[in-house]
Amino acid sequence: MKKLFALLLAVVMVLSLAACGEKKDDTTGKEENPAVENTYNTKTPGVLTVATSPDYAPYEFYAIGEDGKAELAGFDIALIKYIADYLDVELEIIPMDFDGVLLELANGSVDLGIAGISPDPDRANSMDFSDIYYEGGQAFITVKDKADMFTDLASANNPDISVGAQNGTIQMDLAQQYSADADIVTLTKATDIIAELVSGKLDGGYVEWDVAVAYQANYPELHIVCEVPYEVEGNAIGVVKGNEALLAGVNEAIAACIEDGSFSQFVADALEQASGNIYEGLLEEK
Ligand code: ARG
Repeated sequence: MKKLFALLLAVVMVLSLAACGEKKDDTTGKEENPAVENTYNTKTPGVLTVATSPDYAPYEFYAIGEDGKAELAGFDIALIKYIADYLDVELEIIPMDFDGVLLELANGSVDLGIAGISPDPDRANSMDFSDIYYEGGQAFITVKDKADMFTDLASANNPDISVGAQNGTIQMDLAQQYSADADIVTLTKATDIIAELVSGKLDGGYVEWDVAVAYQANYPELHIVCEVPYEVEGNAIGVVKGNEALLAGVNEAIAACIEDGSFSQFVADALEQASGNIYEGLLEEK
């Protein structure tokens, strides 16, 4: 009888140890907050951690309010707020350069990236894509003073010109494809392209069509030469690879946002705000 009891006790101890072990594995070493059920398997339960690159009006940028303070604006920002509300989670937005958004998603250190991302098949190994929430094309741009140099896209392929594109973007691929003979300049921020065009350092640049239109409001000297063909139309949200619950939730929220008319309002508001006072960098140094 004593032996049986000892055996039972041993079994119970082994079982409870195993349960402890399992618990640790489940939580992957993270603090567990039993109050919040982690429905969407976010990095931090109850919080959506999102990377963005606010150099891209009307998608995301810093608008300067009447109080002189810069605040995140743009239809991507409005959309991600809507999504967080819809999923009933808190929102933490982390601004960084665009190549950083791709990197953080690939590393799995954020839940989402929203930055006018094109769902390029080359990125499919490092992130999942939401449904398309916005349709927009690509543009080759210059300044009015140089408009005569560019009659069509073929004229953008010239060894005597310098052409800018943002690091890590599909526009960089387009520059390599359509301006292979030109001096291609890699810039970390899309706003650097605009600034260097305006100051005369660059002759041309590749950006999303609506970005070109938005910055024209602040820089009327910008000139759109032509549309640039690119097969993957539209923009999607980057979702950390393999988080199916979050992907499904995000897609449901996007559909609701488009369906109830909020998204068209966000686009209209962003275009209006982008034509006002905007700040063109990242605020980390400030
Ligand atoms: N759509 C392009 C891409 O996915 C450019 C996006 C750049 N976004 C930004 N916020 N600067 O490569």
